Amino acid sequence: MPSYIFGKIELDDTQLKKDLEIVKGFPRISEEYDEFGTGVWINNSLWNASQDATDTMYRDFDYPAKQTEYGRQLPYISKLVTENFNLEYLKMVRTRNLIDGMVIPHKDFVELNKPKNQYFRVFVPLEDNRHAFHSDEDNVFQMKKGEIWFLDAAIDHAAVNFSIESRIFLCLDFAFPGDFHPSEIFTNKALYNEQIKPTIAKREQLKPEAVEHMIQSLSQIIDKYNFKDILFMLSKIHFYKDVSVSAAYDWLEEITRRSGKEELLDKAQKLRKYMIEKRDLGERFSINDWKELTV
Ligand SMILES: [Fe+2]
Repeated sequence: MPSYIFGKIELDDTQLKKDLEIVKGFPRISEEYDEFGTGVWINNSLWNASQDATDTMYRDFDYPAKQTEYGRQLPYISKLVTENFNLEYLKMVRTRNLIDGMVIPHKDFVELNKPKNQYFRVFVPLEDNRHAFHSDEDNVFQMKKGEIWFLDAAIDHAAVNFSIESRIFLCLDFAFPGDFHPSEIFTNKALYNEQIKPTIAKREQLKPEAVEHMIQSLSQIIDKYNFKDILFMLSKIHFYKDVSVSAAYDWLEEITRRSGKEELLDKAQKLRKYMIEKRDLGERFSINDWKELTV
């Protein structure tokens, strides 16, 4: 099921502004999944499993999430969460910011145990940024301030902010024990509204001969020194050209195959598996580490 919009909250700009200033003062904590991104990618845990604000890893646990010291410093955002959302199944709340950067195409939850449809990830943008986009297997789209989105993190998806301006979102992760309706995340089910029109990006066509030309040219220059640059460059293309979100991995595999460099092809294949197919909990993959090709 691709991502969709299903509600909107009216935000109080004055109160919100005060909290966002505090969020912008939080330190950048080294991430569990830093290898997925470039630029400034910040996640701050407001509620989580351990109550430890430095704990950014989403995982299964069977008790309600606990508010961290960061969460307690944000009176308006705390009120927004507790007044609007059902805390019973809420497992994690984070503020997320992505500045001048990208999270490359990936799937989440591939290392977790429940059926994927019991994880429900909700995004509520707290700032608008016309240079920031999300994508999934169907579309490239923009989430607007106050909109409530289901972000299908179990299918291939990516995010980008082409600007150096901030783009803070609230990310709420719910986990249900069985079947559920999306309206169950709300304290007031009347908030559920499927009639709000999403902002879908218009993308240009990409001609097959241009793809062939690109693959052939890059196969002549790719090396371990620019493998990561090429991966990120290829990953950006789907945000403005009408190709699938995971096309970058197909292209990278073909580029490295044609390069004749076994080590690069091996890395491209392992990267694809890690990002969009299968990884174990705690498994790490380094794009930069060329001495150790197995994780
Ligand atoms: Fe994700």
